[in-house]
Amino acid sequence: MTVVVAPGRVNLIGDHTDYVGGLAMPCAIDLAVTATFDAADDIELTSDATAEPAAFTFPLAEDQLGVEPTTWRRLVYAVASLMDAPRGVRGRLTTTLPIGAGLSSSAACTIALALTLGFDPADRRGLVLLAQASEQKATGVPSGVLDQLAIVYSEAGHACVVDANAVTATTVPIPDDLAIVVIHSGHARALSDTPYAQRRAEAERAMAEVGGLADATVADALAIPEPLLRRRARHVITENHRVQAMADAFARNDAKQAGALMLESHASLRKDAEVSTKDLDQLVDALSTRRGVYGARLTGAGFGGSAVALVAVDVAGEIAGTFGGRVVIPSAGARVVS
Ligand code: GLA
Repeated sequence: MTVVVAPGRVNLIGDHTDYVGGLAMPCAIDLAVTATFDAADDIELTSDATAEPAAFTFPLAEDQLGVEPTTWRRLVYAVASLMDAPRGVRGRLTTTLPIGAGLSSSAACTIALALTLGFDPADRRGLVLLAQASEQKATGVPSGVLDQLAIVYSEAGHACVVDANAVTATTVPIPDDLAIVVIHSGHARALSDTPYAQRRAEAERAMAEVGGLADATVADALAIPEPLLRRRARHVITENHRVQAMADAFARNDAKQAGALMLESHASLRKDAEVSTKDLDQLVDALSTRRGVYGARLTGAGFGGSAVALVAVDVAGEIAGTFGGRVVIPSAGARVVS
């Protein structure tokens, strides 16, 4: 029997930047999709790892991508059809990750599936790109590589600085006296039901106006005539700077500065990227007034999902309890366990 684990992720800073080649700083968490399987002739899987618990058989001889309407089956078909030679397996996927909470349950699922179907775990970049392409194919959502980079490259106790343009991730230690709390806003959603694709298209138009992210300045963003594109460009450019500043703050063990950057990030996601909700705004406001909370922001795509808070270790349990959240542990990335 073989066991594969693919964790979810929480993004500490850097949202709505990856699809225009920007930076982000996520970490894998201690909630995960686990696959347990043996070799078989076909792909025979059961799952509680998506919103649609299902038993599933995929005859390896046939490519039926698109035939099955449910997300879970489309994910399996997408991964299998994009792999050179998926192997036959009989087994089961289970999850401790909430679905639609902004913690990358779909990316964890596709990465677990790819490793289950025999993708070489040593080809980490290939795994990231395969998982991204599979999810795009299965859901139709033009998502970036942030989630997959975090899930594949994370190390315990570290965050990853991911560069979506280079498709790379480098790890930075998270100071020992800091804890991460994730709180669900109460609104679960699938990205395909949100304006995510529209935001990506707007950001692409905005970045084309300033000639790309590499050299763009806030002054360039403010010179864009169309107000909406001006805001979208300003979000990407300032958020990219905040990711670099957050990595520096962690290196200096400057929790105050890290928290201030998270609050600035949330304000930018609310006003310039326009991806927040009233519930997320209220949650971030309430969190930020609590003793021991350095900063908070929405995490991931927004439009619902979760908020993340950076807190002092000694108040983490109390904050999680008060807000109905959960302390998450920065964890190792996806792996074949046995
Ligand atoms: C989702 C996508 C990511 C990224 C975030 C927003 O999680 O899957 O690629 O765009 O939203 O930062």
